[in-house]
Amino acid sequence: MTDTRSTEYLHTGSIVVAVDGPAAAGKGTLARRLATTLNLVYLDTGSIYRAVAAKLLAAGGDPNDAETATEVARTLVSDDLGRDDLRAEGVGAAASIVSAHQDVRAALLDFQRAVAFDPPPGRAGAVLDGRDIGTVVCPEACAKLFVTASLEERARRRHEELLGRGEERIYARVLEDLKERDARDSARATAPMTAAADAVTLDTSDLDVETAFRKALDIVRTRCGVTAA
Ligand code: DC
Repeated sequence: MTDTRSTEYLHTGSIVVAVDGPAAAGKGTLARRLATTLNLVYLDTGSIYRAVAAKLLAAGGDPNDAETATEVARTLVSDDLGRDDLRAEGVGAAASIVSAHQDVRAALLDFQRAVAFDPPPGRAGAVLDGRDIGTVVCPEACAKLFVTASLEERARRRHEELLGRGEERIYARVLEDLKERDARDSARATAPMTAAADAVTLDTSDLDVETAFRKALDIVRTRCGVTAA
């Protein structure tokens, strides 16, 4: 399928910040806080793929079935992003599978770009987090961060998060699941997870949340020319 990316936003003055990286690297926390601090809209693009997966699974569909997944992606509505099953582990794994289908990605591209480049009145732009924001969705973003952490540290954080939600899991299993997801997200043919050539990599393995945020904010302020916050 051809790239359906709209070019109508290329010359707007939106401040667009791309935050990419693997699962459980802390990019969501970071991106949300950057958006709040800089008065930008925040879009968790993973939740869009999760919504497709959740709807598909609820209807008894198979995430490997590209045609059905694409149909679900084309008929997705904003309310689907508020489903309460989006964070379930099974939905995350299925999201990783549906997101490898090229037509699913194409169906969701313009929505993501509209959020980035056509923010509501009073907002100067948006922060999007995902896997391909700096490379495919918003290559023209003024700041691109690739937020990562060691597999072991990400597994530790995800395990803690799951326990905190009352979901009993074995650490080793969480680590294996993350490893599998990393491999699928970075090896797929369409829009694989990768740092854009002009992205700044932020390894949060040994950083506390506050330090990681300060570093990210500095990068965004410098790159996007934002002075006040
Ligand atoms: O960030 P997350 O774990 O909620 O994302 C769930 C899955 O969605 C992830 O494994 C890969 C996919 N995804 C993607 O392919 N592209 C994005 N921009 C965001 C997520």
